[in-house]
Amino acid sequence: MNQVSRFYGGPGGLVAAISSALDAAGLDRTALRPADLAPVDEFHIRGRAATLEIIEALDLTAESHVLDLGSGLGGPARTVAELAGCTVTGVDLTPEFCEVATALSEWTGLSGRTHFHVGDATATGLPDAAVDAVLTVHVAMNISDKHALYAEAFRVLRPGGRFVVYDVLQGEGGDVLYPVPWANDSSTSFLATPEDMRALLPAAGFVVLSEIDSSDESLAWFQEMRARIQRDGPPPATFAAFLGDAFGQMAANQVANLAERRIRTVMFACSRPS
Ligand SMILES: C[S@@+](CC[C@H](N)C(=O)[O-])C[C@H]1O[C@@H](n2cnc3c(N)ncnc32)[C@H](O)[C@@H]1O
Repeated sequence: MNQVSRFYGGPGGLVAAISSALDAAGLDRTALRPADLAPVDEFHIRGRAATLEIIEALDLTAESHVLDLGSGLGGPARTVAELAGCTVTGVDLTPEFCEVATALSEWTGLSGRTHFHVGDATATGLPDAAVDAVLTVHVAMNISDKHALYAEAFRVLRPGGRFVVYDVLQGEGGDVLYPVPWANDSSTSFLATPEDMRALLPAAGFVVLSEIDSSDESLAWFQEMRARIQRDGPPPATFAAFLGDAFGQMAANQVANLAERRIRTVMFACSRPS
């Protein structure tokens, strides 16, 4: 296990912890829908709303086979599978997250159309042109070799297919304030700038179709989440299930990082030319 998967993987028992939290809140596990799990399994800024935008940009059909690079607890993969009616494979470096993702798919009735494997997003081992679409959501921040990541996305995508990246980028406002939800310090944090992305994606072979900066909405999302938690208390299961007590400080830092333009959230929709 490397430093990144150690950061995300806790002491174990995450499936049981989420299960008990849902039971304690009186949520019927047999009637769970992916949206019910969003506060814990859509582990990126703007949560499910961002995933819905990604689905639009992926241009999917029910026959599509989609790859999610860095699939985490599987929230985006399940939302894609549920709404597009397609099949999604998730690859993630953190074994415990793959275990949780598999369990949550069983609970939501999506285990037939979502599959999760431990692996590295820069070398998935999948055959060339194996999938119809690829997404990666808040993962590249942990990967220093971004060319390897985008080259792998290009290699496994069929010609004509879409690739959507939604990531946290370095802003012009100065160094990131740590800890943040992807790293305790700069040793496992490697943010590209928007300018870097505009060079990296074409260098891997992609045509960039659109670039959307959602940083203002991201700041509002964090502020609303913190206000809602202060007013109503937290939802049954949140990112704190695996980030622990540090999550409060991380969320406060993210408000400052966004307000001071130290970070940006940007989605790039790309295609692999036919
Ligand atoms: C902030 S989480 C995002 C998870 C998921 N994409 C989502 O939006 O809910 C970052 C994820 O990237 C994974 N990750 C980091 N580096 C990776 C790599 N080289 N290969 C595969 N997964 C990686 C981590 O294990 C973690 O699950």
